[in-house]
Amino acid sequence: MIQLIKPYVGFEDIREQLEEILDSGMLTKGKYSKAFPQKVAEYVGARHGFLTTSATTALSMCLKLVGLGPEDEVLVSDFSFPATVNVVEDLGAKPVFVDVSRETFNMLPDDLEAKITDRAKACLFVDALGNPSGLLEIARICRERGVVLIEDAACAIGSSVAGRKCGSIADLTCFSLHPRKLLTCGEGGVITTDDDDYADLLRVKLNHGADPSTGEFVSYGYNYRMAEIPSMMGLAQIGRIDEIVAERREERGEYKSRLEPLGFVAQAADDNVYHNMQSVTFVVPDSVSRDDLCGYLKSHDIECTIGTYCLSDCVYYRDKYDSVQPNAKYLQDHTITLPCYSGVPVSEVCDAVEAFVS
Ligand SMILES: Cc1ncc(COP(=O)(O)O)c(C=O)c1O
Repeated sequence: MIQLIKPYVGFEDIREQLEEILDSGMLTKGKYSKAFPQKVAEYVGARHGFLTTSATTALSMCLKLVGLGPEDEVLVSDFSFPATVNVVEDLGAKPVFVDVSRETFNMLPDDLEAKITDRAKACLFVDALGNPSGLLEIARICRERGVVLIEDAACAIGSSVAGRKCGSIADLTCFSLHPRKLLTCGEGGVITTDDDDYADLLRVKLNHGADPSTGEFVSYGYNYRMAEIPSMMGLAQIGRIDEIVAERREERGEYKSRLEPLGFVAQAADDNVYHNMQSVTFVVPDSVSRDDLCGYLKSHDIECTIGTYCLSDCVYYRDKYDSVQPNAKYLQDHTITLPCYSGVPVSEVCDAVEAFVS
């Protein structure tokens, strides 16, 4: 089976540290879970970094910091994994689905402007498949309209826009450490921010409500901590992100040169964007059924999947809000993500695609 992605970390990278952690008996709240978020913050160029158990809990935590009531609205990029909107729904606020560009797959600034009301508290901008195109424009609109910008950078570690890395731009940024991502601990998440007030709150809220210096329970909070072993895995990889991204960009270039002549259209990025290629995703030609192509590839032991989901078209949200966004729906139905990892046999995958379409 040619897999979609393989982890960039192996046993030999972590053998010594694993032994050290197990021998020490310090399985949580030790040096690795302290050092790893600091390293992530340093890498992306943010003042503060915090670990969580996933991007989902990171996003949920950030929305809790903003404080949402039942009348409040959160504007959400409509082309994403359902976690992006689930956290809004879970907190009792109203998600407002903002359509995306068919080229970059990211939130359309005009549609955002049109949908912001006085009830808008936050905007959840998604770096679709790791691509931060349009982020600066969205940040400007949010600033002007007094809306907190939370970047769902679940897929975007290593990406940047105008020379600034994802994680250093929005008010709060959330990363995922799930195995489909370039930096993985199995599960996990990171929040980065430059805002000292948010950072003070996060120190308390992520620690059961306890003030870190006095130990007094000055608030209520949660345990979204990451343990030592996964933190150590993350720390072992963070120094290699740029190298991993460069390799993926090369592999994606090989895909493009084979598939564009067949009518496949690669996800686009703005000129000022450096895209980490978390996913190698194409819009299939009109003459091709994406589902049939996926079925064909899988029958030839090649793993593939859709780009991602149209949130407003997920059964629950469609039934409740009846607000399906046309571009996001189009992308959900016409995109395919192909395997990408160190040493992926690009030509074998492209041969199979070519055999199917011709
Ligand atoms: C854009 C986006 N947001 C959020 C998530 C949720 O991440 P996690 O699995 O770490 O909770 C994902 C997962 O794929 C994602 O792609």
